[in-house]
Amino acid sequence: MRKVTVDASIKYDVWIGSGLLERAGAYVSEVFPRCKLCVVSDDTVYGLYGETVIASLQDAGYDVCVFTFAAGERSKNLDTVSALLEFLAKEQLTRTDAIVALGGGVTGDFAGFAAACYLRGIPFAQIPTTLLAAVDSSVGGKTGVNLTSGKNLAGAFWQPSLVLCDYSLFESLEADILLDGIAEVIKYGVIADEELFKVMASNDVASLFENNLLEQVIEKCVTIKSNIVSEDERDTGKRQLLNFGHTLGHAIERCSNYEISHGHAVAIGMLYMSRAAAQAGLSPESCATDIEAVLKKYHFARSCNYSADQLYEAALIDKKRTGNSITLILPDRIGCCRLEKVELSLFRELVENGVRYEC
Ligand code: GLY
Repeated sequence: MRKVTVDASIKYDVWIGSGLLERAGAYVSEVFPRCKLCVVSDDTVYGLYGETVIASLQDAGYDVCVFTFAAGERSKNLDTVSALLEFLAKEQLTRTDAIVALGGGVTGDFAGFAAACYLRGIPFAQIPTTLLAAVDSSVGGKTGVNLTSGKNLAGAFWQPSLVLCDYSLFESLEADILLDGIAEVIKYGVIADEELFKVMASNDVASLFENNLLEQVIEKCVTIKSNIVSEDERDTGKRQLLNFGHTLGHAIERCSNYEISHGHAVAIGMLYMSRAAAQAGLSPESCATDIEAVLKKYHFARSCNYSADQLYEAALIDKKRTGNSITLILPDRIGCCRLEKVELSLFRELVENGVRYEC
């Protein structure tokens, strides 16, 4: 069992261990006094884990209500938020009550956003059930939903009061869903931790589980994120490093109408950007080669069918764009990236080269 403390606008603990779901009530009661809790979960996750979590919360003395929604990225929109807000009001939750987000990134993001909006803000806890949510979206307080125009365009910074990561759930994840998280772990290696990158490069999915590496891998990622968020909670500087591969990743997700899921899109985004940067002399060639090799090892698709024009147009809505420039995250070496503001014309060329270029 490991604990990482995030020191942002509020201080909170991320617990990483096996079998935490059954003990959710005990952990939640450390942060929320007896109150009404709304458990938010998609219909798939709720079917798998809802009963366990609710029994544990009720045993700890909480009054629990449940909001479920259709699983999938397409539910991450303002309609679902609106339905949840109406539900919270109907259930008469007050400012001393709380939300418990039980699920992957979609659940945590939109339930956290509803927590930020309802009564101008109520507390919430995250119980991530995917590797992606555990290492990234459940920590750091970025909450929100997609708009028709693009990914995560409406939201709020709203920190959870607790994150409970039970990694014993991840062994039974579908391969593609697990890979969404693996892509984010590889990202952490590239931006901040060469050792972590080497662990990922010298293992595969099976050996990560066989060698019990998941707990330490998750702890490393959460620690990196915690350090960055503690320094730059509002994403005005250093936090943007966490977006390596995401500008093109989000564009790929949107072009595919979310058929290509987040981690798979980020994997291609990391590769396109590192190739293009290498070709333009902005990053060493070896970074692109190493990234390609590790993605190959985990059997990621390393290209998509969208043209440079399509990707460029879809990427223009990126939150790191200001006027005629956009901030890119470029690798200096594995374990260290930098932010570089470039003109949109150069970004356009880089997208073209990333799509075309083979290592
Ligand atoms: N997922 C990137 C961030 O939290 O900043």
